[in-house]
Amino acid sequence: MNSPSGSRHFLDLSDAGTDAIAAMIADALDRKSARDGWPKGKADPDGPLAGRVLALVFEKNSTRTRVSFDIAMRQLGGTVLILEAGSSQLGRGESIADTARVLSRMVDAIMLRTDDHAKIEEMAKHASVPVINGLTDRSHPCQIVADLLTVIEHRKPLPGLEFAWFGDGNNVLHSILEAAGLMKFNVRVATPKGFEPDPEFVAMAQAGGAQITLTDDAAIAASGADVLVTDTWISMGQEDAEEKRGAMAPYQVNAALMAQAKPDAIFLHCLPAHVGEEVSEDVFEGPQSVVFDEAENRIHVQKSVLLWSFGLIG
Ligand code: CP
Ligand code: NVA
Repeated sequence: MNSPSGSRHFLDLSDAGTDAIAAMIADALDRKSARDGWPKGKADPDGPLAGRVLALVFEKNSTRTRVSFDIAMRQLGGTVLILEAGSSQLGRGESIADTARVLSRMVDAIMLRTDDHAKIEEMAKHASVPVINGLTDRSHPCQIVADLLTVIEHRKPLPGLEFAWFGDGNNVLHSILEAAGLMKFNVRVATPKGFEPDPEFVAMAQAGGAQITLTDDAAIAASGADVLVTDTWISMGQEDAEEKRGAMAPYQVNAALMAQAKPDAIFLHCLPAHVGEEVSEDVFEGPQSVVFDEAENRIHVQKSVLLWSFGLIG
């Protein structure tokens, strides 16, 4: 999706597409290895975003997204400012359209974390600077670029890989499905009935050539899988219902489930985790868990997403 000025919005993975996502991952790998052991706030020598300011706008909580975008901008030579809905006019009802137009006069790019995906589409429609999706109820594309980088770093080329998802058919799963169609890997999705992903994302993955299996049997999804993924059962903004927790209980990623996967399978979780719920402690802390590599990689891919949004890569 292009902004009026020609810079690029990143609302979902399809806005970038296969080649640009590959370019983002390649750039993240290069920049990451070039600064191995450096202080985290030190800028990369080329400083490609020197003088640029990114506004981070939050209508929901965040740790990783907030810190990784801040550090990413420092490493690229730019700066950030943070706007929380509760302490800005957005929280008092100023429209998204006016906020987009004001911010576009004051900053060079906008990242928004919000609830309704229509809000970020509205922001993009009215902004003349790049708008980046930092999570909506529908999708979490930046997270999935970090997940793909993590999988590749653990020596697993994406085409033909078998991902397995357990639990809630949520925003993170939607972006995994979108990535599957673009990067040609397969996804087995194990959810309780009534918590399946949006069929639009399943269709998108299938249209891209990915094999998608929908099942309510966690063992079927785990069998022979290369990458096991889960997420919180109750996402931000959802009602914490006992009924839902009960339905999710058979989908916990634990040692018995990991034993059904390939011996060198890895475990991913976007975090924050609820250890003892969607993942057992032995898996979370175990040798197949790469969740902290995954968290660190948020920095490295935010840099790529920013560079792509400014038209500097891909
Ligand atoms: N994974 C993720 O987006 O984490 P935060 O909610 O802490 O940003
Ligand atoms: N599905 C979770 C992801 C948090 C990073 C949520 O939306 O709360």
